[in-house]
Amino acid sequence: MIEIQSGPEAIRRAVSLLRAGELVAFPTETVYGLGADAGNPGAVAGIFAAKGRPQDHPLIVHVADPGAVGVWTADVPPLAERLMAEFWPGPLTLILRRSARVGDGVSGGQDTVGLRCPAHPLARALLAAARDAGIAGLAAPSANRFGRISPTSAADVAAELGTRVALILDGGRCEVGIESTIVDVTGDVPRLLRPGMIDADRLAAAAGRALAAGGADAPRVSGSLPAHYAPSTALDLVPDAELVDRAMTRLGRGESLAVFASAASVAILMSRKEGMEEPCYGVAAPASAAEYAHELYATLRQLDALRVSRLIIAEPPDGPEWTAVRDRLARAAHGAGH
Ligand code: TXA
Ligand code: MG
Repeated sequence: MIEIQSGPEAIRRAVSLLRAGELVAFPTETVYGLGADAGNPGAVAGIFAAKGRPQDHPLIVHVADPGAVGVWTADVPPLAERLMAEFWPGPLTLILRRSARVGDGVSGGQDTVGLRCPAHPLARALLAAARDAGIAGLAAPSANRFGRISPTSAADVAAELGTRVALILDGGRCEVGIESTIVDVTGDVPRLLRPGMIDADRLAAAAGRALAAGGADAPRVSGSLPAHYAPSTALDLVPDAELVDRAMTRLGRGESLAVFASAASVAILMSRKEGMEEPCYGVAAPASAAEYAHELYATLRQLDALRVSRLIIAEPPDGPEWTAVRDRLARAAHGAGH
C-alpha cells in the first residue's frame, strides 16, 4: 500500500524507512524528489530501478544546511561559497568535486557531485531529522519515471511511481514548479548546465562574472537530453500570433485539441470554433514567468490526461526570466507523443 502523509510523525516514519534503505518521496520548492540515503549504495540503486533511469546519470545530493557539503566535497571554491551564501536554501544545484564518500551510483562515475540545499520547510525538516539519525544527505532525482514530466504534487508522484515508493511526504503544490538551476563551479568559469528560475543574470551578479553555457564537453545532464519532461500526447509549440489559425486548421481536419496560450488567443479561438464538433479545450497561460513555471507541469499533466489528439502551446515571450520555461517546453515538445 502506498502511503501519503505529512506532519512530524510522517517525518519520523520517513527517516526510519530511509535508514532501512527504502525510498521516500518528498516535496521541494522546485519539484518532488525521490529520496534515498546518499551513503547507501543499495538504496541509491533502488532509485534507478524505480525511475527506469540509465545508470550513468548522476544524482543530486540534498543537504540540510550549507555546513553539510563538506561530507560530499573536499573542495568548496570561493565562487561556490558566494553562490551558496546568496541562493541557499533555494532552487540552485552546484556541481563540485566529489569526496571519497560519494558512491559511484550517485556520481554516475564522474569525478563531481551535484549538491543542493532545498528551501521547502518539509524538505528541510526531513533533511535535518535524517542528519540527526546519521544520514548526511539524500540522493534525489525528480520523482517521475525517466523522461516524463516532473511531479509538482504528492498526487503526481503517486501517479508516476505508485507502489515503487514506500512513502510520499505531502507538502502541497511546489512553489517554483520547475527543476533547480544547475551551475558547474569546478572550473575557473562558472557554467550553466540547466537553466532554472534563478536566472543567469542573478547568478552573474552574485558570482561577480558572466557564466559560460554548458558546452558539448559538459558533464552529462539527463535533463539536457533533447527529449525530456514529455507528455504522451503530441505537442506543437507555435508562436502565439499563429496559434488560432493553426488550431482552426487542425480542428477542420477533425483533430481534438487542448490549447495553452495567452488569454487573448484562447478567447479568440473559443469564439471562432463555436459550432464545431471537435473537442477543443483552452487554458489561459499566466503572464508572469514565475506563475507560468509554477503552473507549467501541472497544466501539461492536466492537458495530457484529456487524451486529445494534440496539444498546442504558444511559445512564451523572449527575455531572460523566460529562459528556463522555454527550455522545458522545447524538450517537452521534442519528446511528446511517445
Ligand atoms: O530541482 C531539482 O533539482 C530536483 C529536486 C528534486 O531537487 N531534482 C532534479 O533531479 O531535478 P534530476 O535527477 O531529475 O535532475 C538532476 C540533473 C540530472 O540531469 C543530472 O544529470 C544532473 O542534475 N547532475 C547531477 N549530478 C551531476 C554532476 N555531478 N554533473 C553534472 N550533472 C549532474
Ligand atoms: Mg528529472
